[in-house]
Amino acid sequence: MSRIEDLLAKMTLAEKLGQLTMTASSYAVTGPVIAGDSTESIRDGTIGNLLNMVGADHVNEMQRIAVEQSRLGIPLLIGLDIIHGHRMLFPIPLAETACFDPEAWERTAREAAREGTADGLAMTFAPMLDVSRDLRWGRTAEGSGEDPGLAALMAHAKVRGFQTADLSGAESLAACAKHFCAYSPVTAGREYAAVDISERTLREVHLPAFAASVKAGVETIMPAFTDLNGVPMTAHIPLLRDYLRGELGFEGVLVSDYNAIGELIKHGVAADLVEAATLSLKAGVDIDMMANAYRNGLPIALERGLVTMDEIDTCVRRVLQLKEKLGLFDDPYRRGAKPEAASAITARRQFARDLGARCITMLKNEGEALPLKPGVKRLCVLGPLADAAADMRGPWWAAGEPEGQVSVMAGLKSGLSDVEVRYATGVGFDDGDTAGIDEAVALCEGAEALILCLGERASMSGEAASRAYPDIPEPQMALAKAAIARARALQIPVIAILFSGRPLVIPWLAENADAILAAWFLGCEAGNAIVDVLSGRVSPGGRTPITWPRAVGQVPIFFGQRPSGRPMDPKDYFTSKYQDVPNDPLYPFGHGLTYGRFVLSNLRVTPETVAERQEIEVAIDISNEGKRAAEETVFLFTRDRVASVTRPLLELRRFAKIRLEPGQTGLVVMKFPAAELSFLGADLEPVFEAGDVEILVGPRADRADLLTASVRLFANVDD
Ligand code: GLC
Repeated sequence: MSRIEDLLAKMTLAEKLGQLTMTASSYAVTGPVIAGDSTESIRDGTIGNLLNMVGADHVNEMQRIAVEQSRLGIPLLIGLDIIHGHRMLFPIPLAETACFDPEAWERTAREAAREGTADGLAMTFAPMLDVSRDLRWGRTAEGSGEDPGLAALMAHAKVRGFQTADLSGAESLAACAKHFCAYSPVTAGREYAAVDISERTLREVHLPAFAASVKAGVETIMPAFTDLNGVPMTAHIPLLRDYLRGELGFEGVLVSDYNAIGELIKHGVAADLVEAATLSLKAGVDIDMMANAYRNGLPIALERGLVTMDEIDTCVRRVLQLKEKLGLFDDPYRRGAKPEAASAITARRQFARDLGARCITMLKNEGEALPLKPGVKRLCVLGPLADAAADMRGPWWAAGEPEGQVSVMAGLKSGLSDVEVRYATGVGFDDGDTAGIDEAVALCEGAEALILCLGERASMSGEAASRAYPDIPEPQMALAKAAIARARALQIPVIAILFSGRPLVIPWLAENADAILAAWFLGCEAGNAIVDVLSGRVSPGGRTPITWPRAVGQVPIFFGQRPSGRPMDPKDYFTSKYQDVPNDPLYPFGHGLTYGRFVLSNLRVTPETVAERQEIEVAIDISNEGKRAAEETVFLFTRDRVASVTRPLLELRRFAKIRLEPGQTGLVVMKFPAAELSFLGADLEPVFEAGDVEILVGPRADRADLLTASVRLFANVDD
């Protein structure tokens, strides 16, 4: 008999339900704290999993109680939200997506897993795969933007990076694809609000990344807090059982979100914990995080015949199988047994710095305000984010300590040490106090450039951080307007550096600053990466993975919208438009300037006609006509103008990167299977239709910047 079946045969009900329970330790607070000390429960086997604990010594202390003092010695599974780094923080996921480099995405997960396992952890609650098109929603920061294909690529990269090919390895973490699913389109962008979307949107936008995570071998999946079209995800039998386990064949562990089973009562689908526990168990949720619904509710549900012991055993089996795959039975102390080499830590920090520059998204750069002129002697740096080291972490900082982060001021001090920097915060974050503006603005005198560090603090995005006005807080705008007026009088350039976990609505700044860098939240090397870009040592490489609207009233705004029967026509009043804002965004998906100047030419597509089983090859010449070396990102979109259902105005198919020296010309070739041009027909079944499809290639999701060609699809030609 296998170890697991042998254990199952011996386990009491209380011990079984312990394996289905995950309780928070107190290292990090990621939800309503309702748990106390778990030691006794670990010893008596009624808690089998923990979250929010850090440190190999603490973890091993708890592990030793479970393995050596409990009756059956089943090791603990201990997880943490290692979202964008563990001790050494990388750019937040939305920022990291901006580098459009899946190898880098995988590497940050790998590095984070090394640090997390060094702290004794065996599981992370990442990657977050929510596709977001609503910047009011604070958790946009945790995902990879507006495109489902991008989220699917991120899923693949992160699962491989966290789990590696050997899940039992000392440096491997079980990944957790979350939050399943369609959490991001919460009503009005308000956190935790209800979600109501079409089956088409669900399948076209919100499922692909999770399918990719299962294909990549993700070991756990976390249902979202939200209710989808009236059914809370934590009890969603059609999607948890029939789709994930049935259609996708997912055999891993479903772990509820924090107290989400208990919250079925507040959703109004369960009268008490017994009913809540029954609903979730029937849906196949294996682990109850922080609700104690399984421990306290299932014994009664069993007595009442609402659930069966087989159903409980099925969940326990999956949890024990995960622990076995992690190697926890063979060696529960394997993770964290060996401290990391100093060289690995040094290399990791350098990687974080290099990656930071590649994620910085230069939204504007007029009059070559950037890079700063060589030999610059005096700068004026204003704003509450200039020396806010802790805020460089962004939301979800795991074990990243505030003092471990490099601020802009620290970066200037080390990276431009011979430059005199005159600095003031000017205004605070929350107090609305603008009394310091005049004194701050006076520092512009004699400076050769004004740098404004503005935006959100780390707590203004992430979970429970929806904003109805996702802009730069008013006191900071008062500072910006006064300082820019002074800079204009002094005829010095104005560089705005924005820190945020989402696009910000910045129409005035977009008009009045000479250069704008979206620095998102870049993690531990933020200040150094920013100064590498300011100084011109490195060209910014980021491309925004999410559309920047002109006004929050345009939201949801994204490049994959459908055409409408009355598309905008300035010559026709009765067409799709606003009275007060243009339809187009301030910055489209993919926008991001570099210190090069790239020209695309000679787009060619082969073959001209293609059957479903063939491959389409797209080639384009690209030259750097600028004065500096830079890395360009080129996007390949398609447009299916006539089909049996309305089709998106643009669909992202591939992207590629190329680094060119000034004057250098290169060739970019992108290939993709014609079968990817199939879509969900009116009956929501996949269909591949004959007809012409546009191929569009360029630097951003703006037709005016795209070279176009066309390919003809044949639906029934044997190739
Ligand atoms: C939080 C989040 C989830 C996280 C979990 C554990 O509420 O919704 O993303 O993984 O609880 O911290």
